[in-house]
Amino acid sequence: MTTLKGKTVLLTGASRGLGVYIARALAKEQATIVCISRSKSRLDKTCNEIKALGGQGISIPFDIQNLTELPVLMERIQEFVAPIDILINNAGIEIHRAFTDYSTEEIQSVLGTNLLSAMELTRLLLPSMKERGSGHIVNIASLAGKKGVAYNSIYSASKAGLIMWTDAMRQEFAGTGVYFSSICPGYVSEIGMTADSHIPAPKLAGVSTPTRVVNAVLRAIKQNKAEVIVNENLLTETLTKIMFAIGQISPVSVDTIYRLLGVAELNQRRVENWTPNRGLKIGTYDK
Ligand SMILES: NC(=O)c1ccc[n+]([C@@H]2O[C@H](COP(=O)([O-])OP(=O)(O)OC[C@H]3O[C@@H](n4cnc5c(N)ncnc54)[C@H](OP(=O)(O)O)[C@@H]3O)[C@@H](O)[C@H]2O)c1
Repeated sequence: MTTLKGKTVLLTGASRGLGVYIARALAKEQATIVCISRSKSRLDKTCNEIKALGGQGISIPFDIQNLTELPVLMERIQEFVAPIDILINNAGIEIHRAFTDYSTEEIQSVLGTNLLSAMELTRLLLPSMKERGSGHIVNIASLAGKKGVAYNSIYSASKAGLIMWTDAMRQEFAGTGVYFSSICPGYVSEIGMTADSHIPAPKLAGVSTPTRVVNAVLRAIKQNKAEVIVNENLLTETLTKIMFAIGQISPVSVDTIYRLLGVAELNQRRVENWTPNRGLKIGTYDK
């Protein structure tokens, strides 16, 4: 898809963090953006920004963990707004825990938000995209899906699932005009879940700006990229790819690199500093 002008994009997680940056970039390209997340007040703020930047924003407060209500919502959006040209599955949560301390509800919440909702939204939008012979699904994954991360294992599993599922879907839909991309950012500065934890990410691991992630999303759509690894700069991105290639041959040697980088240590500190996650407060969330 070479241009986004006039396209309709469904963007989840548009109320804060990276979603707001992605929405702004799409607005500058004059797209219509259907913004979904739970917080109505924050979504409305994003939509006002979209309008000011030259796009159109539609705010839909919705908890994407409610998988059973998604079919009606998607039907209404496609009927009353427009058929969706691009779906960006960006909403995500993480809960840091030692594995045995996770509750069933927490495991379901992370997998439901990060993986199952993306699959279900895609499943519901694909028939229309296939019929029109055009569409793009962009899944915001993470480097945590390329290499397991201790004390964030459910998040890692959800993102690994997202990456592998995207890979399979790209092959399944080859030749249909519907494209699939996964974006794999490492730690992100300034905004979003890493910044919100108030525990600095290990510098040696590389920390990307939100703009770098947004540029990766635009590149994936415009140049039909299968997978984009995002890190601080081109050098750290190349080193990251080499490290993952080594990990295919010797996972344990990359365990050592992660230990030296301080990844597990950082997550252990996050476990100690953890406060009830916004993702779990279903029904009591600020509207
Ligand atoms: N920031 C990073 O360092 C980083 C690194 C790698 C990958 N990522 C990925 O990038 C994506 C965005 O992350 P972020 O850092 O921007 O996170 P964030 O600031 O915590 O924002 C998460 C977004 O997801 C929405 N969301 C969460 N649960 C939801 C639910 N049940 N229903 C609907 N919306 C929901 C939130 O909106 P409401 O709370 O209003 O619902 C919010 O808009 C995520 O998939 C994340 O895994 C982030």
